[in-house]
Parts: sequence; C-alpha cells; structure tokens
Amino acid sequence: MLVKTAEFICSNTQVDKLPTPNLPEYAFIGRSNVGKSSLINALTGRKGLAKTSQKPGKTQLINHFVINNNWYLVDLPGYGYAQTSKKNRSDWEKFIRKYLLSRANLQCIFVLIDSRHEPQKIDLDFCCWLGEKGLPFMLVFTKADKQSSVKSDQNVSKFKRALLKWFEEVPQRFLTSAETRMGLLPILETIDQINTTFIAPSEEN
Ligand code: GTP
Ligand code: MG
Repeated sequence: MLVKTAEFICSNTQVDKLPTPNLPEYAFIGRSNVGKSSLINALTGRKGLAKTSQKPGKTQLINHFVINNNWYLVDLPGYGYAQTSKKNRSDWEKFIRKYLLSRANLQCIFVLIDSRHEPQKIDLDFCCWLGEKGLPFMLVFTKADKQSSVKSDQNVSKFKRALLKWFEEVPQRFLTSAETRMGLLPILETIDQINTTFIAPSEEN
C-alpha cells in the first residue's frame, strides 16, 4: 500500500466522541516510549504527524488519523508510565479498555514491544487481557536498529515462548525500525489485506 494522504482528525478522551466508525480502524498501543509515534510517522512517511518525544508519556489522548481517506490509524497513550499518579493510571486503564472493547470498526490492535528487552510482565499481561477479551492483535517489535539482529531475534523468540504459556497460537509478528524503515511494508500490506474484508458496522444506525 502506498500512503498517499495522512490527515489528523481529532484527539479524544471520550469514547462517545470518536469519529463515526465507518472505516476500518487500527490502533497502535504499547509501553510508554516504545516508539509508537515514531512508527506511525514512519509508516505514513509524515515526520510530524504523531508527536514524538524523549520524555515518556507524551501521548495522552486517543488520536485519530485518516489514511488515504480509507482507514483510521489510532495513536493511543502509552501504558506503564512510571511518573504518573495511580489515579492517572487507572483513568488510562478505564478509557483505553473501554475504547478497545467498544470500538465496532477496530480491525486489529498492533501491540508494540521494545525489541531490546527480554519479555516484560506489563506487555505479557496486556496481551493476555486482549486474548481473554477475544480482541484481534498483532505484535510489532520496535527499535530493531538499536542492537544486532541476533539479539532482536532472541528477544522476539523469548516473547513468543512466554505467550505460548497462555496462547495456543502466537499472533503475527513484525520486527521493525522507524529509523531504517525495516518491517514497515509488511504492516501496511497486512492492513491493506484486512481492509478488503471490512464491512461497516450497521450502516443504518
Ligand atoms: P509516548 O507517546 O510518550 O508513550 O512514546 P512513544 O511510544 O510514542 O515513543 P516515541 O515515538 O515518542 O519515541 C520515543 C523515543 O524513542 C524517541 O527518542 C524516538 O526517537 C526513539 N525511537 C522510536 N523509534 C525508534 C527506532 O525505531 N529506532 C531508534 N533508534 N529510536 C527510536
Ligand atoms: Mg507517542
């Protein structure tokens, strides 16, 4: 897929104010600072589309973008941000979980995992929650340019093995770098493929 247009639509903290769910939607989520915004900018080829920062916790809202006037891309706030209060964290949980559970046009959740690290409990717990709720997700390992491919592959394998304790099958995986653009085309191709199967939820409503 070629990204011809990528436009920011809106930022939200309220699930009932989201855009009409008439296009297929893909959400990007992961630990704070994992590289979500960088990946979104690299995928769309638009440097300033999603705000990036060296300070974790930059993205605090549900940010909707429309790509090629054909599908929604969503940048979600990062989880596991240590520098925030318990109250903030539980608010995050409530509104993100509500969004993920209620968004009728959500086709796939891309869970971003930092490929530099061994499997982290917070990521595994989140994947398990998605599995329990029957939400479709895929794994995107980020920042592959930061270490050798052997190291990245080891961490991907470890994550896969950890998930196999709970799952019969491990979801599709992508090893990526926003710097080198490694692994980005396969993600766009996957989205393209899913888009062909999309039927808008109850259009008469
Ligand atoms: P929050 O919105 O704060 O949760 O962060 P985020 O997950 O959106 O991360 P962001 O894209 O802002 O990136 C965090 C830091 O990691 C920035 O300094 C990026 O430049 C860096 N980074 C992100 N992706 C890559 C990558 O593929 N390679 C390298 N080398 N650095 C990356
Ligand atoms: Mg961000």
